[in-house]
Amino acid sequence: PNITFILPDESIKVVDAIEGESIMQAAIENEIEEIVATCGGSCSCATCHCIIDDAWIGKVGTADEDEREMMESTIEPVANSRLSCQITMTEELDGIVVHVPESEW
Ligand code: FES
Repeated sequence: PNITFILPDESIKVVDAIEGESIMQAAIENEIEEIVATCGGSCSCATCHCIIDDAWIGKVGTADEDEREMMESTIEPVANSRLSCQITMTEELDGIVVHVPESEW
């Protein structure tokens, strides 16, 4: 399934993700530098923060309580903020559009 990343400078990077991996893993494999993923995907750092495009948030869903708390204690999340390690790629999410915020790390 494809992921379209919109980078902080508005440039677009379309990557081919492997089903079952997280958006964070796909970002790392494709050298998207703003996604740092310090904790390696265990929902405890927020350096994999991304913002899901409005058109996709319904399909992906918003952050659960743990994820939201993590974000609120580390960054200033917006309505569609998610930790990209907590989203698993499936065929259903093929074509998802993900905004990558300026790195704060
Ligand atoms: Fe740390 Fe996602 S990699 S919360």
